[in-house]
Amino acid sequence: MSRKLITGNWKLNGSLAFNASLVEALRAGLSAPACSIAVCVPAPYLAQIGGLVQGSPIDLGAQDVSAHEAGAFTGEVSATMLREFGVRYAIVGHSERRQYHAETDAVVAEKARLALACGITPIVCVGETLGQREGNQTEEVVKRQLAAVIHANGHCISEIVVAYEPVWAIGTGRTATPAQAQQVHAVLRAQLKAATPQAARMQILYGGSMNAANAAELLGQPDIDGGLIGGASLKAADFLAIIAAASRLVA
Ligand code: 13P
Repeated sequence: MSRKLITGNWKLNGSLAFNASLVEALRAGLSAPACSIAVCVPAPYLAQIGGLVQGSPIDLGAQDVSAHEAGAFTGEVSATMLREFGVRYAIVGHSERRQYHAETDAVVAEKARLALACGITPIVCVGETLGQREGNQTEEVVKRQLAAVIHANGHCISEIVVAYEPVWAIGTGRTATPAQAQQVHAVLRAQLKAATPQAARMQILYGGSMNAANAAELLGQPDIDGGLIGGASLKAADFLAIIAAASRLVA
């Protein structure tokens, strides 16, 4: 089993004071973790958090990246700009972006492509809604979402991270069971295997109400290589407990 990747997604939360105390508590609680760790923070705080995590095992992540390189795109932040702030990961295609900002599979694929071109690892989110799950469309939906990214990124595809985030499990306290999550992760792994010989070492994260109590069992599944954590990443004790669970799973 390879090292797990535990990534926080702070979403639209934080303040200069809150960020400083959260990162300080995380640093104080981390003693040589045996997993990789990142926090994906709101863009205005990248410089602050970049400084706060320096010299720690915590990598810096962004929550989105523009599908454009430069020009007249008001409000956008490019991959080149993120790179200047030491960003290592960028979430792309989060369901909240797909839902509230009408991001299509093609836009998500282009975002992943531009991130990769700048040396940033895109964390590509896929996931079905409750209606799609109940309509037995889960496989079809996640495969279509991932296929767009595979198609646009060719041989670079082995450099992405995938996150399976069932929409019905995000922020609802309703988690996919380990078996439900594993089943979809296996589908995604098979799809990656058809695209690259590196698929076995690629990281497929689970996201959706992961917390200190359920992390160990989810992370113990053979195709779950880490977590993308929303609410619980804003509480130092909870995020540290998930990191500890991931660290215990290293072979
Ligand atoms: P919650 O952990 O709050 O359910 O959020 C999951 C998520 O969307 C992470 O990107």
